[in-house]
Amino acid sequence: MNKLALLASGSGSNVENFYNYFKNNHDIEISIVLCNNPKAFVIERCRRLGIPCVVINRTQFYNSDEIIEVLKSYSIDFIVLAGFLWLIPDNLIKAYNRKMVNIHPALLPKFGGKGMYGDNVHKAVVEHKEVKSGITVHYVNENFDEGEIIFQAECPVLPDDTYAEVAAKVHELEYAWFPRIVERLLKE
Ligand code: GRF
Repeated sequence: MNKLALLASGSGSNVENFYNYFKNNHDIEISIVLCNNPKAFVIERCRRLGIPCVVINRTQFYNSDEIIEVLKSYSIDFIVLAGFLWLIPDNLIKAYNRKMVNIHPALLPKFGGKGMYGDNVHKAVVEHKEVKSGITVHYVNENFDEGEIIFQAECPVLPDDTYAEVAAKVHELEYAWFPRIVERLLKE
């Protein structure tokens, strides 16, 4: 049995998609969600779905081993960042070396780094008149969006597309691919 922890800061639509993808899988379980934002909608989603959700603060995350202890207490073997906005500290990177992945809503190395999250990314893609965007799944290292790339999928950006239209296309790619890629990594 593989036990996953998902880290999220926002709406949690990817968390719900993971839940639906794995709910009938007896080898892979979403065991816990950690959320750094007490106002995030993901907390309500978890309550509805019956997934334990723990709200964490900066001190626990950056100045203690508490998070690692929580993860170990749930026997977590793999971490998925699903819209998680805090930089991951060294202790967590070491404890889950190559067992922690992130999804970025663009084709890295373009449109990554600090401040490049959510709609900021899609707005930048439209402003730069890109002809394509997409998703990047990558391992997590000590810098935002710089870990080794595992998988990318593309979608076209048309000249008249708004950032919201680009966001919708990218979300579709996330829902279609992200759980599948994690499943593939767990089987390797
Ligand atoms: C997604 O677009 C993901 O790529 C990015 O943050 C967003 C999270 O959306 N890292 P949600 O909270 O899963 O709805």
